[in-house]
Amino acid sequence: MKRRQFLQSPLLALAATGTAWPGAAAADNIRSYNLRPAPTTVNVVGRRWGDTDVWAYNGRVPGPVIRAVQGETLVARVDNGLPEPTTVHWHGIRLPHGMDGVPHLTQAAIAPGASFEYRFPLEDAGTYWYHPHASSSEQLGRGLTGALIVEEREPIRIDRELLWVLDDWRLESDASVREDFGNLHDRSHAGRIGNTVTVNGGLAEPTPVLPGERLRLRLVNTANARVFGLNFGDLDVHVIATDGHPVEPHRPPAGRVTLGPGMRADLLIDVNLSPDQQAAVVDDFYRSRAYTLTEFTAVGTPVRDQAPDWSRALPANPLSVPVLDDAIRHELVFTGGARGGMHGAELDGEYLDLRELARRGKFWALNEVVAHHHHMPPLLTARLGQTVVLDMENRTSWHHPIHLHGHVFQVLGRDGEAATPVEWRDTVLMNPLERVRIAFVADNPGDWMFHCHVLEHQEAGMMGVVRVE
Ligand code: C2O
Ligand code: CU
Repeated sequence: MKRRQFLQSPLLALAATGTAWPGAAAADNIRSYNLRPAPTTVNVVGRRWGDTDVWAYNGRVPGPVIRAVQGETLVARVDNGLPEPTTVHWHGIRLPHGMDGVPHLTQAAIAPGASFEYRFPLEDAGTYWYHPHASSSEQLGRGLTGALIVEEREPIRIDRELLWVLDDWRLESDASVREDFGNLHDRSHAGRIGNTVTVNGGLAEPTPVLPGERLRLRLVNTANARVFGLNFGDLDVHVIATDGHPVEPHRPPAGRVTLGPGMRADLLIDVNLSPDQQAAVVDDFYRSRAYTLTEFTAVGTPVRDQAPDWSRALPANPLSVPVLDDAIRHELVFTGGARGGMHGAELDGEYLDLRELARRGKFWALNEVVAHHHHMPPLLTARLGQTVVLDMENRTSWHHPIHLHGHVFQVLGRDGEAATPVEWRDTVLMNPLERVRIAFVADNPGDWMFHCHVLEHQEAGMMGVVRVE
């Protein structure tokens, strides 16, 4: 059985055609986890405000950190303790289609009381995460998220690693989760932006650091809709990976690391603070509502007096590099939302005006088609191995983190300007009215979800399917 699954992996199949997959020896290296999503009660906002009824993996928010080493095979048995069907989607990691966790598209949803075993080889190292792909706005909004970390086989040298799973909750004054999931305002505006930001499931506390140490900080934005724009002030910060994949180490543009929902960043931070000095990490993405997320507080004896000369560059993942000369090109126009210019769009083969769409809870379209779960003809079809260049245009007044399953793409440029350095991503944040060009090699067969990761936008029509055959 093990052997069969191993051979079935389309990623491994590529090894035979010349792409090197270092994971090819992984079949015997199994890393097993059990996940049980279920209702539970935890403390999110501190004793003063009381406990919160949440939905959580294994009784905690976020769920357990799933950690493995590149080349191993992850086996995750999921027992559904929720009152409704669920799945687990492994956000960003490349895997065989049947393991992608999308109901109707890659598997039947896991019924309450039923279970499902996910099993796939971890070809890529990096920072990823997992979450349900059923009733996403509600299931994630109630707390179902967790980090997936795949360590490099040969990690770079650091002193210490930190992981911040960022989330945003919409809570009532008694700390309960506000049950207004999927309301029309969220669906047509910025999504379910909450009122309580948490780091690793609690209110952020000061972060004690040693003067002079080198930290690797893994950031994951698991919020339904909130974008984070983190400023690290005078701290010596380099971005070394985006959405899990190595990037040429560089200082964050204007000192700010921007993460839309679903996005990740790996940072190296050289703590250039003297003992007892502090440095604030400020989130000012929504400028009028800037706040201090945490403070690095230097305590103890300096470990060194200047930054170490260790390499910052991570080893590359075995990604297929787009060949632009041979690419097929597609244009995708996003329309809709409040203060947009959309007049109407097609839903289930019928052209409907805005009013009728709104009556059905739909507000967004891709190339004038509003997606609906059971009827999703592909947005585009690519032959296996072909490079696809996508010119995306955001003709709306809102931010959209656009996510493609099963693949990793390069962000080539924005508004006609070439991007430097070129980042690999699975989710790219589009600003209002922005054009973004991405490219990827369609090297993983199947029908893959392509959607906005503001979950309320996704549910209100902002999704589609990319077919690779
Ligand atoms: Cu993070 Cu389609 O999802
Ligand atoms: Cu969106």
